[in-house]
Amino acid sequence: MIDTSKYLSTLVQTIKPSGIRKFFDVAKQVEGAISLGVGEPDFDTPWNVREAAIYAIESGKTTYTENAGLIELREEISRYQKRHYNLSYDPNTEILVTVGGSEGIDNCFRALLNPGDEVIIPNPCYVAYEPAVILGGGVCKYINLKSENEFKITKEDLLGAISDKTKILLLNYPSNPTGGTMSHEDYAELVPIIKEHELIVISDEIYSDLIYGEKHASLACFEEIKNQVLIISGCSKAFAMTGWRLGYVLGDATLVAAVTKIHQYTIMCAPIMSQYAAIEGMKNGDHEVAKMRDAYKARRNYIVDGFNKLGLPTHLPKGAFYIFPDIRPTGLTSEEFCEELLKDQKVACVPGTAFGNSGEGFIRVSYAYSIDEIKIALERIKLFLDNRKKND
Ligand SMILES: Cc1ncc(COP(=O)(O)O)c(C=O)c1O
Repeated sequence: MIDTSKYLSTLVQTIKPSGIRKFFDVAKQVEGAISLGVGEPDFDTPWNVREAAIYAIESGKTTYTENAGLIELREEISRYQKRHYNLSYDPNTEILVTVGGSEGIDNCFRALLNPGDEVIIPNPCYVAYEPAVILGGGVCKYINLKSENEFKITKEDLLGAISDKTKILLLNYPSNPTGGTMSHEDYAELVPIIKEHELIVISDEIYSDLIYGEKHASLACFEEIKNQVLIISGCSKAFAMTGWRLGYVLGDATLVAAVTKIHQYTIMCAPIMSQYAAIEGMKNGDHEVAKMRDAYKARRNYIVDGFNKLGLPTHLPKGAFYIFPDIRPTGLTSEEFCEELLKDQKVACVPGTAFGNSGEGFIRVSYAYSIDEIKIALERIKLFLDNRKKND
C-alpha cells in the first residue's frame, strides 16, 4: 500500500478543517442536544418556488442550460437587484448564475489571484474565505474587527491593511458570524481608498434581504468604483433555499467573463430545476421573504434581550440571523464555553474562534430557530451560568 498522504497538494495540506463542522460532529453525538449553531433557515422553501421546480421537472426541463444560467433567470436577477437595491446589471454580460454563493466566492478568487497577491479579509469572518484565497494562491491579510465598532470596517482599519501587494478586499455585510452591517455612510468613508488603491472588492451580500429596520447598503451603489465591485449573492438564505444550490455573481463584464470561464469548465451550469425555482422566487416571492424576515426580527429581539439579561453583553445586530454574544464575563475561552455548555446543558453554539482569532471571547449563536427552541436554550444557558457561579 502506498502512503497516499504524500500525494496531497501543499496548498490543500495548509487548509484547516472547518471549525463549525468540527464542533457539530461532536454536538451530533450528544443525545437531547439543542442546537443554536446552524447557519441555515429553519423555514421550508416557499410552496410556489417548490411547485415551479416540480413543474420544470414534469415538463422535461432536465438538461444543461447556458453556462451563465438561463437568460430568463439572469433577467429576473437583474430586475430584482434594480427593484430592491437600485443596482443595474446587464443580464447578458454582467451576471453569472452559480452553484450557491459558495461557488461564486471560490471562482472569483481563482479568476483574480496570482501567487502572492494579498487579500484583505475581516476577522472574524465566514469560514470559506481563507481556504478560497489559499487555494487561489493568495495571501490573507486580516483586519481585526471590534465589538465596540459593531464589527464594522473603518477607513483606518483599511488603510492599515493595505500594502503594495494588496489586490482584493473581501467584505461581508450583513455579516456571518456577527450580524453586523455597514451603512451607505460607513461605505462612503472607504470608497476614496478603494478607488485610489485600485482594489477589487468581493462583496458577499448573501444576507442582503435579511436586514432589520434599515436599508441594505452596497458598495456597488457608488458609481465611481462600481466596476471594481463583484457582488456574491443567491437564494440560499432569504428564500430558504440552501439545498437548491443557487447563487449568482454580479459585476463588471470583463471580471464576470473571467469567472464564467472557470465556471464553464468546472460546473457547466447550476441545476436547471433550481434555476426555474429561483425565477419564481424572485418574481413572486417578496411577500414570503418579508414574512420570514419579520419572524427573524422577532427572534432577534427576543434572543438579544435574553443574552443581555444573562449578563453576556450582546449588541443588537441589524442583519443576517446571528448574534455574537460576549462571553468574557465568564472567564472562559470561546472553546471552553461551548464545550462546557454542551457537556453541562446540551446546548450547541459555535466558538467565535471558528471564524478567526478575533472571535476569541465571543460565541456565534444562530436564531434561525423557533422562539420555543430559543426559550429552552436560554433557560439551559441560565442554568449553566448559575451552576458555574455556585461552584466558584
Ligand atoms: C457569508 C456567507 N456567504 C456564503 C455562504 C454560502 O452560501 P450558499 O449556500 O449560497 O453557497 C454562507 C453560508 O453559510 C454564508 O454565511
